[in-house]
Amino acid sequence: MILGIESTCDETGVALVRGIDLLGDAVATSMDEHVRYGGIIPEIASRAHLESFLPTLDLALERAGLELKDVDAIACAAGPGLVGSLTVGITAAKGLSLSLGLPLYGVNHVIGHLAIDALEHGPLPDRFIGLVASGGHSNLLLINNIATDIVELGGTLDDAAGEAFDKVGRLLGLPYPGGPHVDRLAREGDKAAIPFPRGLAAGKDKERHKYDFSFSGLKTAVNRYLKANPEANLADVAAGFSESVNDSLTAKAVAAAVAKDCEWIVVGGGFAANSRLRELLDERATAADIGVRIPPTKLCTDNGAQIAAIGAQIVGAGLPPSPANFGPKSSMSLEQSYLAE
Ligand code: KG4
Ligand code: ZN
Repeated sequence: MILGIESTCDETGVALVRGIDLLGDAVATSMDEHVRYGGIIPEIASRAHLESFLPTLDLALERAGLELKDVDAIACAAGPGLVGSLTVGITAAKGLSLSLGLPLYGVNHVIGHLAIDALEHGPLPDRFIGLVASGGHSNLLLINNIATDIVELGGTLDDAAGEAFDKVGRLLGLPYPGGPHVDRLAREGDKAAIPFPRGLAAGKDKERHKYDFSFSGLKTAVNRYLKANPEANLADVAAGFSESVNDSLTAKAVAAAVAKDCEWIVVGGGFAANSRLRELLDERATAADIGVRIPPTKLCTDNGAQIAAIGAQIVGAGLPPSPANFGPKSSMSLEQSYLAE
């Protein structure tokens, strides 16, 4: 029985997982307190974790019908994320670990976004390409074993996919966070009306950055287009922009699966809620005879279950707990499923 604790950004998440069974989870978010600033304010997020942790822990236990004495091991997010926010979750986890005498694993939040799919769709494929897309990450990973053998193939050189959507949402005058709003507006537009550029898709860049992404040039192109065309059809702008981001993500994910001889692509992160991503990836992967697994939207955004899920894989692999003195790793390597000795 693994207790998972998430506190990398604005969500305080606690969940209980046994193997690949999710027994109970609870999430509190401080997003409402950040909205008026148009971005996450780290100090506000840290304080909110402090206030939310105990009530969220109680709620998760209550939903699972369990008590702390039923827990066998604790997993907490050790990174990547905001140092202050991580520190609150790690400190809480260490307190529980010491007082209950339980092993503690400081795990990788990003890898948790992929591990969580097992809770919905059953044991993970033996080998797969992981596409993680969120407000903070856009990465392609080759997962040979999610606990012990992860290879980072590439990632964004500038903005993450969700971040690009949030920034373009602001340019379009949509509320923060803009991702879901841009997605909705894009569905009403013509995706071929405005030919926005694709980052790293041509010439030397294409070769050198086979599995990397770049979305900041695209964002600048959208900004220029809106300035030059004040009467622009905003749905067409959203649709053209969304198509560019999703064309890059899906083309490179499928290319990676083909090149690395993987039969599966697993997608995770808040951006996995994007409707065009799901549609286009399905279309392209099917054409290449590759299967796609995407957790349901409620498991894509940050939560404690993703942390418990990767914790369960690490414990299941028989790996030792993290050293007692580990601390937050704001830019933790994506090739590390957890902090080992
Ligand atoms: O994984 P997540 O909850 O938090 C991070 O770790 O970043 O992802 C949140 C990000 C935000 O940028 C949000 O705008 C974006 O995911 N997002 C979407 C959609 N739903 C959430 N972006 C595009 N389309 C969506 N439907
Ligand atoms: Zn995340």
